[in-house]
Parts: sequence; structure tokens; C-alpha cells
Amino acid sequence: MMEEMLALDEVQPLPVAIRRPEDAVSAVKELETASGSSGRKQVLRIAQPVGVAPPAVAPEYASALSTSTSTSTSTSGISGDRKDMESTTMLDYRYHARGVHVVTGGLGGFGLELAHWLLEHGAEQVVLTSRSGLRTAWQHLRFAALLAKHGDHAAVISNLDVTDAAQAIRLVRQTYHGGARVRGVWHSAVVLRDGLFQQAGDADWAIGLASKIGALRNLDAAASAPLPSPVDGLTPVGAELDTFVVFSSVTSLGGNCGQTIYGWGNNACERLMERRRAAGLPGMAVQWGAIESAGLASHLTSDIIPMGRGMDVAKQNVDDSLRSLHTLLGASGRAAVFSSYRLHVEAVANDGDADGNNAGGGGAGGGVDSVEDVLAKLADILGGSAADYDASQPLQEYGLDSLSVVEVMNWINRLVAVKVTPSFVSHDTTCNTIFRYIAENPLH
Ligand SMILES: NC(=O)c1ccc[n+]([C@@H]2O[C@H](COP(=O)([O-])OP(=O)(O)OC[C@H]3O[C@@H](n4cnc5c(N)ncnc54)[C@H](OP(=O)(O)O)[C@@H]3O)[C@@H](O)[C@H]2O)c1
Repeated sequence: MMEEMLALDEVQPLPVAIRRPEDAVSAVKELETASGSSGRKQVLRIAQPVGVAPPAVAPEYASALSTSTSTSTSTSGISGDRKDMESTTMLDYRYHARGVHVVTGGLGGFGLELAHWLLEHGAEQVVLTSRSGLRTAWQHLRFAALLAKHGDHAAVISNLDVTDAAQAIRLVRQTYHGGARVRGVWHSAVVLRDGLFQQAGDADWAIGLASKIGALRNLDAAASAPLPSPVDGLTPVGAELDTFVVFSSVTSLGGNCGQTIYGWGNNACERLMERRRAAGLPGMAVQWGAIESAGLASHLTSDIIPMGRGMDVAKQNVDDSLRSLHTLLGASGRAAVFSSYRLHVEAVANDGDADGNNAGGGGAGGGVDSVEDVLAKLADILGGSAADYDASQPLQEYGLDSLSVVEVMNWINRLVAVKVTPSFVSHDTTCNTIFRYIAENPLH
């Protein structure tokens, strides 16, 4: 009926502004202004980068990047082709898990919450892989909560290592409690090898990629390849998966300084999922932003994570993120790669930094009136108070990791006319140096 009304001009579609991803901030701002309220829809069209091989990547990993298709993305928690989205009743979709679900990295912060979500949505059993088992108090607590709520057979921990092809077959093709088969595979394992590109060696690339695309290839092969006959308790036919999901990151979408290996590994996983979908197999990748209070981003002190191309993401609630899986899985018949992240938009352009510090005043710029303000910012990022830091001490001596380097760099760059690179922060830079630099390069 709607198509007929459109054809007869009885219904006018909303005007649409199609923008590049780097214009996301101005798109959101337009929505907030008078012109936005006139109803212009803002659509971001994102072409995934076609793979260009970096140095020192093993060929078996590089080929996963050899094809690329484009995906549109929005910040509202879902992306995909616009036409497909219109024809899908995504909002009504409720995902229902069946049988056994394998979660690689299932004892990780996000993996454990996913395990809870799966059991609450129908999974009979979750198999959580981890090379080192329950270690932290948090892992013990959340794992015990799984068993308490869903029964002793609801969750098992497996130490099978999916970076090994034979172990991946065993994981996916064995039967579990009551002879149940694996219906869902969720690849959540990760080993980070963050650092500046120039400093990444072959071993870093090998380890970082093995946990992402290396493991995903093994899982893909394990799920798809028919076994010749019943072998050692393994199921001889396909695992009959209905769900195959990899957790990717917005690092793959927009890049992030210090995370080339991670971004590459995630991007390769997305390409593999596109191939699965093209072959009619289940396959979906979700590019998450920074999850609050669970997993690898939870230790970041700032709520705003600066990403590449001036895109800052705000931390997102883990339960909300998991809830969005219903929508994403409902749309996964149409596209393979989706995004779920919160875009941080500064309230007033150039009038303050992302943390709300005021600009202007008589000081160096952006509310930085003395080196004390730089020390306070460092304390904000690394913890403690300004008095814990020495303005003449090189920042590196405080053990900045790559994300902290980027956080400091982006903070400086919001205040100065001549932008700095990560090496400015990672060499012998002190708070005194930073204060001088801000004073000498004010924004005009
Ligand atoms: N948390 C976030 O903010 C966020 C944002 C974007 C994307 N993601 C993605 O979401 C996924 C989960 O992240 P997370 O925050 O839960 O990370 P996490 O807390 O660091 O957990 C990752 C887990 O992977 C396990 N692991 C690593 N290699 C493994 C292997 N070969 N076999 C089995 N387990 C292995 C590790 O356990 P062991 O050391 O015991 O093996 C670890 O517990 C990752 O893929 C990540 O890229 C997370």
C-alpha cells in the first residue's frame, strides 16, 4: 500500500542527506538545529576499505581481506542497506537461541555477559572457552551466577584453543549435555597487541591476528567441513549452525591510533563473515564501540574514547548493547556487518574540550591556564590526582599505554592550531612541554 501511495505522490518521503562517515558529527549537529527539525534524515554511507596488505602479515591472514563490499552504518545501533532495513520488520524481531552456543573468550568481560544473555534467550547450554580458566573474582562471581540461575549444566568452561584448527573442530563438532549439538558460535576471544605501528613486530602481528581472523577461520572451517564418519565422539555432519557471530570493533570502521593490528584483525573477520553470508551461511559481525563496565575498555578512565578521524565514541551500557542484538540478528539476513556505538558530540564546537572544560580565558587556550591544568588532565586519564605527577617527568615514565597516548594527543589537538602526532606524546614529552606547546599554538 505504501508503495502505491508513494507512486501516486500521496506520501512524500522525508528528504535525505547522505553523508560521509567523517561528517557524522555535523550530521548529528544538523539534527539538533532548526534545519534538522525540518525533518532531513541523516544517512551515513560507509565504504569498507579495500584491503591493502600491511607489512609482515602472514599470507593466510592477508587473503581474508581480499574482497570487500560496502555497508551503510548509523550510530543508532544498527547498520545495513537502507532499502533492506525498510523491508525488514526489525523492531518486532526477538532472537531465540536454540541448543548449545559456543562463546570463544567466554570468560572475558563481554563474553560472560553474552553468556548470560544467551541463556536468558533460550540457549540450552553455553560453552565458554578460555585458555586460563576462572581467575578473577569477577569471573567467579558471574560464572557462579550463571549456574545458580540456569542450573549446573547451563555453562561449561572449555580450554580448547581455537587458534588451533583441530581444537576448533573438537569444540564445534562434539556433542554436549544430553547429546545436544552446537547451534551457535560467537567469536569473542581477543588478544590485544596494541602499540604504535612502527614498533609492532612480526610476533605482535602473528599473536594479535591469530586470536581474531586465525581463530575465526578455524571456527568457520570446523563448522562447515563435513567429517567423513563419526570420529572419536564428534558429529559426522555439519554442526547445523543457525548463528555465527564475531565481535568486531569500531576500530575497524574508523581506525584508531595504536590499534592497527586489532583493526586489521577485526576487518578481516568482517570480510570472512561477508563471504559466509554470500555462500548462504549464517554470519554476522558487530562493530562495537567501547563497552562500559565489562571487558577490555572498562579500565579506561575517560568516558570518551577518541578514535580516528576526529570521531569520539562514548562508553555504552553493556545490557543495552546486548539488547540491540535482537535488532541486529533480525537484520542479519540482509547484511553481514553492523555497528553499535555511541557517538560523542561536543556541545559547543571549539568552545571547550570534550570533558566540558571551558575555552577562552587569559591562559594558553581551552581553559589551560597553567601547567597544573595539564597535570590535572594527566591525572584524569591515568588516575590519582595532579599532585601525584611531576611536570618535568617524561610522560612515558608513567606507563602510558597506546590508548592513553591517543587520549592525551586528542586532548592537546582540541586546544591547538598545529596538531601533534602520537610520537609527540610518546617521546620525552613532559607536562611542562605540553603546556608550552599549547601556549605557543593557540586556536584562533
Ligand atoms: N569490551 C569492549 O569495549 C569491546 C569493544 C569493541 C569490541 N569488543 C570485542 O568484543 C570481544 C570481547 O571483548 P572483551 O572486552 O570481553 O575482551 P576481554 O575481557 O579481554 O576477553 C577476551 C577473552 O578472550 C580470551 N582468549 C584470548 N585468546 C583466546 C583463545 N585462543 N582461545 C580462547 N579464549 C581466548 C581471553 O581469556 P584467556 O586469556 O583465559 O584465554 C579473554 O578472557 C573482543 O573480540 C573484542 O574485540 C569489545
